[in-house]
Amino acid sequence: MAAGNWKMNGTSPALSEIDALFEHLSADGPEVLICPPATLLALMTERAAGSELKCGGQDCHVAASGAHTGDISANMLVDAGAEYVILGHSERRSDHAETDAMVRAKTETAWVAGLRSIVCVGETEAERDAANTLGIIGGQIAGSIPDGATGENLVVAYEPVWAIGTGRTPTLDQIGEVHDFIRARLEKRFGEGVGRSVRLLYGGSVKPDNASEIFSVSNVDGALVGGASLKAQDFSAIIAALR
Ligand code: PGA
Repeated sequence: MAAGNWKMNGTSPALSEIDALFEHLSADGPEVLICPPATLLALMTERAAGSELKCGGQDCHVAASGAHTGDISANMLVDAGAEYVILGHSERRSDHAETDAMVRAKTETAWVAGLRSIVCVGETEAERDAANTLGIIGGQIAGSIPDGATGENLVVAYEPVWAIGTGRTPTLDQIGEVHDFIRARLEKRFGEGVGRSVRLLYGGSVKPDNASEIFSVSNVDGALVGGASLKAQDFSAIIAALR
């Protein structure tokens, strides 16, 4: 799976980028998703209609509706054509003080609305330097994922905070270690069948020139891509590396 996270980038003219993606998509190819800013979501799903491109949100509120000025509910994302929602991205965790408990509650809300959740976890550089990476990831996995996860409703993205938008990536061994660990934790908690079927994405400075080697790592089922998803040429190359 290749999932693009446009973050707070793009106004209507940026939508034309997705036109160049369509020719790289097919029903038997990798699943491809873009999560644009909320203002572009309905326009993007309209433009992608009839193609294999899926669209998603970047966050949702924990409540189904109500007095929450500026927030967006899971049902609103569905109404705009979203099939997925990214939850617990490290930028949400740091910019909006989102805790594991909040991410877990949002994930439940998203499931009730019929969305699939991409739950993000990842250590900071200080946590890695302190040899605490697996402790942090284990805690985030336990705290952010609700009971009832399946291979259908859950995708987990491992995104080391220090690799996001920096051009730095962990070694392939480091990626493999964390992905194997996440897989084992999911199998232990949800059973082998479910644990194996949840897709695990790596995210953090994935580019056309490193995508193939990252996809060759065990238990890496795809990527969550920020900067390189904004340009169709780069994102297409990453999609091609998944084939
Ligand atoms: P990046 O972002 O690819 O620009 O590093 C990844 C992400 O934050 O999802």
